[in-house]
Amino acid sequence: MEVFPICISASGDSPVLFRPPKTDREYHDLKALYCVSTRLDTAGPWLDRLYKTLNPKRFAHSLSVARTSVRLAEKYGLDVIRAEQAGLLHDCAKCLRLEEMQKIAVRHNLTDDPAFLESPALLHSVVGAWVARKKYGMEDPEVLKAIEYHNTGCAGMSPLAMDICLSDFIEPNREPFPGLEEVRALAEVSLEKALLLSLEDVVAHVSSKGRALHPRTLGTIEWLKTLPAVNADPTPEPIKP
Ligand SMILES: [Fe+2]
Ligand SMILES: [Fe+2]
Repeated sequence: MEVFPICISASGDSPVLFRPPKTDREYHDLKALYCVSTRLDTAGPWLDRLYKTLNPKRFAHSLSVARTSVRLAEKYGLDVIRAEQAGLLHDCAKCLRLEEMQKIAVRHNLTDDPAFLESPALLHSVVGAWVARKKYGMEDPEVLKAIEYHNTGCAGMSPLAMDICLSDFIEPNREPFPGLEEVRALAEVSLEKALLLSLEDVVAHVSSKGRALHPRTLGTIEWLKTLPAVNADPTPEPIKP
């Protein structure tokens, strides 16, 4: 397995907005802002590849998800290195064309679910796990599962997968939308409750547009509702900064 030491200093308490880099110079500035430790050089190959294969907005989003997932991992006692790896790579296939994703998915038997095969919003997670393994040398099954489930969740998903799913939803670069601040506040006190609320927000949003959600997301919601952490009452008030 090819190992890329990832910069732990990506964590931090204050939200940092990573602006999409429009030039190589801005990319290098952003890299410095994201990763200020002496390990930057060894983390470089991953960031360089992401910069080349994602559009600027998606690249900045990926850094922001990684920073958020590391912060949540520290808060909830998860593996911060895995959180950063999965955060950085979760959208590594997002900028592939649908036909390219379909080709990879079919050739490597990644899914036969027609809903996934017809939707880039769904398919990029499954193909992303494959790309992470083949192009980034990521072999850790827990990280690969977190990438695979980052958009729908999954009944029985690991805390790391919950972290990535939630970080994708609340990262500071996200355009504001109804319910986002409530989920962000809840993320400070309960990973499970915050993820449940975020997925319920997605259901409400998608339903309001007359569209159906993938059954895996609905299954995730039902599973989350059974967890002791979700049923523990009352939820403590988030600590104000
Ligand atoms: Fe995604
Ligand atoms: Fe994302």
